[in-house]
Amino acid sequence: MKILVTGGLGFIGSHVVVELQNEGYEVVIIDDLSNSSLDVLEGIEEITGKQPHFEKLDLRDRNLVQEFFREHTDIEGIIHFAASKAVGESVENPLLYYENNLNTLVYLLQEQLKLGKGNFIFSSSCTVYGQADEMPITEKASVKPAESPYGNTKQIGEEIIKDTCKVNATLKAIALRYFNPIGAHPSAKIGELPIGVPQNLVPFITQTALGIREQLSVFGDDYPTPDGTCIRDYIHVVDLAKAHVVALKRLVHRQNKKNYEVFNIGTGKGSSVLEVIKAFERVSGKPLNYRIVGRREGDVITAFASTKKANKKLGWKAESSLEEALKSAWDWENAMRK
Ligand code: WQD
Repeated sequence: MKILVTGGLGFIGSHVVVELQNEGYEVVIIDDLSNSSLDVLEGIEEITGKQPHFEKLDLRDRNLVQEFFREHTDIEGIIHFAASKAVGESVENPLLYYENNLNTLVYLLQEQLKLGKGNFIFSSSCTVYGQADEMPITEKASVKPAESPYGNTKQIGEEIIKDTCKVNATLKAIALRYFNPIGAHPSAKIGELPIGVPQNLVPFITQTALGIREQLSVFGDDYPTPDGTCIRDYIHVVDLAKAHVVALKRLVHRQNKKNYEVFNIGTGKGSSVLEVIKAFERVSGKPLNYRIVGRREGDVITAFASTKKANKKLGWKAESSLEEALKSAWDWENAMRK
């Protein structure tokens, strides 16, 4: 069965390609290489023994998308990662985000409808909840006005898919709302590529531990949380990747209850910034150089998932602990610098 993975050379996409190939799927990757590298293809091959078919393609070009689908009429499913995802950049350049994250989604759905068979998995984000009123966050929690154009593209993306599924019985879709993906494949052959200064906590930690960054700045310790720092639900990227294969199987085997479903994908456990730092120090055996600075604009105080729906309906559960995820991130950081 042939599955298209857009953004398949990216951090999460590449880990999903590995799990799909491990399950025997034939994978075709589209990636524009704007935030990834061809080395990832080799990493995927080293892990799975198989190199997926790859096409460099900018999904913003509708003609190229149409041409691609004319050549691949046997695609049974799409897992769609290709999108810009830097919150700060989206504030500076909203039209880049609305074009790259939404036009491309419309073109993919239009092509899938032409094929007449649509299993579509959408990479969404807990960012749609904003600061949720209750913890843990369930899928019933209200979607709050987005804090950034990036977050808005995830909300609008879900709406586009939901509205399309409503009037096209051939289209079946699942949106997976990720919490905070961290870590790397245990082989340390693929992971999060360090392009520019890391915006996210864990890559900044591993680069600081390796001496590439001078010091980690902790953005605020005056929040209303037990230790004053923000709380998130950090999930091992391999656990997250496996959730995509389970979701795809649900659609392919017609086990879905509605033709548009949403699932939170997290561990169900919240960890504060300081707890992550302490866990990393245990894992790496090295003290981490950090200091407390002012709050970062747009940060929510607390966000961690209720995973009951995914556990029960998908039969999926995160297996790895925070320490195991941090260890895999540290191993990847060291392997990359060899
Ligand atoms: C986590 C915590 C920071 C860096 C973002 C996007 C979200 C998704 C995941 C794409 C926060 C603190 C961070 C640092 C710090 N991205 N921090 N010092 O903001 O929860 O989510 O990435 O889908 O959409 O919003 O993740 O890793 O940036 O921050 O103190 O150098 O770590 O304040 O409390 P976040 P993060």
